[in-house]
Amino acid sequence: MRGVLVTGASRGIGRAIAHAFAAQGDRVCVHYGSNLTQAEATVAALPGEGHVLVGGDLSDPAVASRVAQFAQAELGGVDVLVNNAAVATSQANAHPVAEVSYDDWQRIWRQMVEVNLLAAANLSYCVARQLIARGAPGRIVHIGSRGAFRGEPDHPAYGASKAALHAFGQSLAIALAPHGISVASVAPGFTATERVADRLTGASGEALRGQSPFGRVGTPQEVAAAVLYLASPEATWASGTVLDLNGASHLRL
Ligand SMILES: NC(=O)c1ccc[n+]([C@@H]2O[C@H](COP(=O)([O-])OP(=O)(O)OC[C@H]3O[C@@H](n4cnc5c(N)ncnc54)[C@H](OP(=O)(O)O)[C@@H]3O)[C@@H](O)[C@H]2O)c1
Repeated sequence: MRGVLVTGASRGIGRAIAHAFAAQGDRVCVHYGSNLTQAEATVAALPGEGHVLVGGDLSDPAVASRVAQFAQAELGGVDVLVNNAAVATSQANAHPVAEVSYDDWQRIWRQMVEVNLLAAANLSYCVARQLIARGAPGRIVHIGSRGAFRGEPDHPAYGASKAALHAFGQSLAIALAPHGISVASVAPGFTATERVADRLTGASGEALRGQSPFGRVGTPQEVAAAVLYLASPEATWASGTVLDLNGASHLRL
């Protein structure tokens, strides 16, 4: 049984990841940003026992440190960190360069970089240092995005933050391998979570499903299965990888 910290796990992909670890017998610390009610429901629905809940805005480095300390204390050690929390794309935070004001451009860039990249970097630091101090083999998995490769014209800060997250994972994989710690990323394409459910109806839904030759979008459970593999002992040799999960909708060399 391992201790697993999953950030942004009150709903969506994070919740599916928390559920997948719990179902294989691990203890999970479910982190949430602002959605306490949903996070409580997520923890209550997890199989097994000993799961805990912690909240906090990860754009604050002190909060990231506190979350890592809480998880370590409550789980008796964090063996797996999944950096899933992110400011995802929405109409409200679109910032196409030709249209957005300079003030909004700066505000949205700062927000996305602080959460999607710096929070993941800070949590990775804290958990890696705990693992090194314990002499424990560990796993860090970042939830990146297809957008890092395909481009995000309406959300360039999102695409850039995810590309940086992938690159950060590769640097960390080399730095932490001597300590027995593996680091990998997944890069999901469009995934059907409650946040994006409205985009899956009507013509926009048809277009999104048409991106993949399978004629559908991904599921949170498919992302969770990949994270479970990358966090497994068998995946040590996959350290440094960025695993595409996009139904062949975007192929790269
Ligand atoms: N769904 C997709 O199509 C898709 C595609 C590619 C990649 N991804 C990536 O997959 C991950 C999960 O996406 P999702 O679709 O499940 O999105 P989501 O439902 O919006 O989940 C992300 C969670 O991050 C948390 N969060 C946001 N800002 C935070 C902050 N400042 N501090 C702490 N927590 C914060 C939120 O927690 P609260 O709700 O509790 O505030 C939110 O529930 C993200 O990294 C996303 O970029 C998603």
